[in-house]
Amino acid sequence: MPLSGKTVLITGAARRLGKVMALAVANAGGDVILHHGHSPAEATQTQSEIQALGRNAHIIQADLNDPAQISAIIPRAVQFGPLFALVNNASIFDALKLKNTTLKDWERHQRVNLSAPFLLSQAFAAHVGKDTTGRIINILDWRALRPEADHLPYTISKAGLAALTKSLAIALAPNIIVNGLAFGAILPPSDGNLNEDLLAQVPAKRWARLDEVGRALLFLLTGPTYITGEIIHLDGGRHLV
Ligand SMILES: NC(=O)c1ccc[n+]([C@@H]2O[C@H](COP(=O)([O-])OP(=O)(O)OC[C@H]3O[C@@H](n4cnc5c(N)ncnc54)[C@H](OP(=O)(O)O)[C@@H]3O)[C@@H](O)[C@H]2O)c1
Repeated sequence: MPLSGKTVLITGAARRLGKVMALAVANAGGDVILHHGHSPAEATQTQSEIQALGRNAHIIQADLNDPAQISAIIPRAVQFGPLFALVNNASIFDALKLKNTTLKDWERHQRVNLSAPFLLSQAFAAHVGKDTTGRIINILDWRALRPEADHLPYTISKAGLAALTKSLAIALAPNIIVNGLAFGAILPPSDGNLNEDLLAQVPAKRWARLDEVGRALLFLLTGPTYITGEIIHLDGGRHLV
């Protein structure tokens, strides 16, 4: 139980990959602060599944499009006890290209996908202080380091988050380590916009298994503290081709 006695805050943890990661933490003995935006029923369901594993789970709702609501998350979370780690998972992923991206779309993606992790990391670091240790994991996408023209505002926000990961690794050393986990084909997008040729571009020729998501996250939550500023790709080699 490597996370026994430790609490991990995960954004967007009510459903899909956030839920997978929340359950992975609980299965490793950790307690979870489940942030969600607009999925109260799914958050309650995930909370019950974590509690059934004998772990604590608390729910915090906040719209990450609103900086005031973001700023309230860490103060609310620490009322339940000290935090060990922050996983910046929540994200929006709109199928927008250069031509049809409005300034509003652009700013919404930067706020949810980049400003929220920035503000949460800043508040998390202030909470951890200098005398204890902590970990931040930013959930990225293979596109972050290989920008193409699809999902333009999303890709740029994730590229910014990759840069933030490295910058924070320096700024928060030595007691907080900061790493990125860059996903590839894990779950089809929730908007149903699935590229049918997707696996043709994945050297592994398959989707990830969900247990691989949990195992990769646990490595970054429990692995060596000498690894910081690193971006691990869980993408079957997609970022290489
Ligand atoms: N799925 C994949 O195969 C894949 C591939 C590459 C990268 N990724 C990355 O992996 C992470 C998880 O992927 P996913 O497919 O599970 O993500 P998702 O379903 O698209 O979104 C994750 C969560 O983000 C939250 N969110 C979005 N806008 C929000 C807002 N304004 N305020 C608060 N929460 C908000 C949602 O929470 P609520 O429902 O509670 O509002 C949602 O459950 C993301 O960072 C994504 O970029 C995923």
